[in-house]
Amino acid sequence: MTAETLAAPRSPRTPEGGVRRKGANLEKWGWIYMRASGVLLVVLIFGHLFVNLMLGEGIHGIDFAFVAGKYASPFWQWWDVTMLWLALIHGANGMRTIVNDYVTGATPRKVLVWALGIAAAFLIVLGTLVVFTFDPCLGVENSTTDWLIELCSAQ
Ligand code: HEM
Repeated sequence: MTAETLAAPRSPRTPEGGVRRKGANLEKWGWIYMRASGVLLVVLIFGHLFVNLMLGEGIHGIDFAFVAGKYASPFWQWWDVTMLWLALIHGANGMRTIVNDYVTGATPRKVLVWALGIAAAFLIVLGTLVVFTFDPCLGVENSTTDWLIELCSAQ
């Protein structure tokens, strides 16, 4: 790389920010991931918005029962979990690119990239647990909502 030519964004990097010549090109796969996940996210995000905000009663229909109804279906559980994983990895990897582009000090860069990875991993685990362990009847004995008490006593 000469002073006049910037390396392509998908070039392999060294931890110091230079261009690495050997080994797997993770930067290239990250670059491909951003595009592939972007295409899938268009479908998942706009499908999510359309179903939640436009169908039926639209935004006025969103309440606890709406969420409980959606999470009773494996289809919507997997839809939301796929959206969660793809968007968090996409967002964290995009932020990593920005950090690599703008943070010049090696230590601050390392700290920020690790913080992004830890935050994304934590939210992915937490979100996945929430979606798959969601139970509308948890704590129902303290509830005053008639339909919920009826639904849970029928189980
Ligand atoms: C509608 C769905 C989405 C599409 C089609 C999309 C597409 C893309 C593409 C193609 C890039 C790479 C740009 C480049 O390398 O120059 C990118 C970067 C990025 N995306 Fe997304 N994205 C979507 C949703 C999201 C979401 C939900 C988030 C946040 C969680 C997000 C956060 C980012 C960030 C932080 C970057 C890095 C920006 C940069 O390098 O300047 N995107 N997106």
